[in-house]
Amino acid sequence: MDSATTYDALADVYDLMYPPASPDISDAVAFIADLAPEGGRVLELGVGNGRIAIPLAERGLTVHGIDGSEQMLEKLAARDPEGKVTTTAADFTTGGTGERFDVVFIALNTFFAPTTAEAQVQCMQRMREQLAPGGRVVIEAFEPRAFHQQEGEKTSTRYLSPTSVMVDSTHVMRDRQLILVIHTVVDGGVPRPTQEVIRYAWPTEIDLMARLAGLRLVERRGGWRGEAFDANSHRHVSVYEAVEDPK
Ligand SMILES: C[S@@+](CC[C@H](N)C(=O)[O-])C[C@H]1O[C@@H](n2cnc3c(N)ncnc32)[C@H](O)[C@@H]1O
Repeated sequence: MDSATTYDALADVYDLMYPPASPDISDAVAFIADLAPEGGRVLELGVGNGRIAIPLAERGLTVHGIDGSEQMLEKLAARDPEGKVTTTAADFTTGGTGERFDVVFIALNTFFAPTTAEAQVQCMQRMREQLAPGGRVVIEAFEPRAFHQQEGEKTSTRYLSPTSVMVDSTHVMRDRQLILVIHTVVDGGVPRPTQEVIRYAWPTEIDLMARLAGLRLVERRGGWRGEAFDANSHRHVSVYEAVEDPK
């Protein structure tokens, strides 16, 4: 099952998994808006249902999103009837917009959706190609230490609504840096499992992928609030610039 198929299956519960109004989203919007010029152009890879893209557009930025899941793009369109966010249905490792943006970002571990290092480098190259002179690439991803150390299968339950929960069961294939997650919605009907596979990468590994794509690290924070990134950080928000500006 590829990532687009996974998110087609999760689209109906995505808002419950990641509620559209949260302090983290406001922080993400502020962080990204600060990197863009007034009214600047922003591209999100894996835009999903527009959780971050829609409030960014409401800040006066011109926002475009790419996603491979038709169902997620339909959810975005339903939440954005005025079409403030424009979209492209494509695989972001191979396809693009043919345009350039002041900020190109990929959030919520979506950089880990391509399940090989090569495909992640391709994703980095697509981000670089769509970057305007002086622009910034931003990646938000978890720091993989806890998963890398996980032994055996782990199961956790997340609240979705007063009548439903999601049971997440994770299995780590440490040698391949892969995590298999089975998300099962339990709501009184027949339980609905959806499989997701992601490939985690270490922050310094991501920096090397960036270098392969002609980008270099500008700063790394521990979260959207600009927290320090240190040995205890569970995630990072990393900002890159082009080594040479595009001609
Ligand atoms: C974890 S969701 C994040 C959605 C949104 N960025 C957010 O923060 O809520 C990942 C999204 O990336 C999309 N995606 C994953 N891999 C993709 C790929 N190779 N090409 C295009 N979209 C992809 C999925 O369809 C899904 O909508």
